Amino acid sequence: MSAPYRIRHYGDPVLKQVANDVTEIDGALVRLVEDMLDTMYEEPGLGLAAPQVGVRKRLFVYDLEEGDDPNVLINPEIVESDGEWEFMEGCLSVPGLHWNIVRPKTVHIKGFDLDGNEVDFDADELEARLFQHELDHLNGVLLVEHLDDEQKREAKKILRQRAESGDSHIDAMSDELGLKLPPSAGGLTLP
Ligand code: NI
Repeated sequence: MSAPYRIRHYGDPVLKQVANDVTEIDGALVRLVEDMLDTMYEEPGLGLAAPQVGVRKRLFVYDLEEGDDPNVLINPEIVESDGEWEFMEGCLSVPGLHWNIVRPKTVHIKGFDLDGNEVDFDADELEARLFQHELDHLNGVLLVEHLDDEQKREAKKILRQRAESGDSHIDAMSDELGLKLPPSAGGLTLP
């Protein structure tokens, strides 16, 4: 399996754009989903939204449990959310950085599968977080927007330094600035 897509990183304008509804599920869309899954597994990430590979369509792929069939949600919508849950969140488009972010603990999500069937279910904790994170990507929102003021200042500083040096993997620098990196960063990276 080769990854046919390059992951777009922070600073790429496509990550700030609102993606368009999928209007037709055809062979090209099925192929896109397969290629996105290849890209996600190669990184590896738990999920990947189309804008992260430069495609402005409202869909994302995800795979939370090894052995499970990978999943895709098309034109997803969160119709209800509840509670609060803190989680050390990362993003393939902001590589090497993770922050504790509080978001709703449970969500009720609707969307369509690759056969065009409507799906509708509740999700909790990590799965709920993944859906919120991926849905943000479809609306042009990166996790940096969810940081508190102090975190945001630190993040902007790191990302600015990265842009200036042309290096997108300055993990040591994030440690110096007091940003906690989880021991198993790779395994917990959301797309
Ligand atoms: Ni992401």
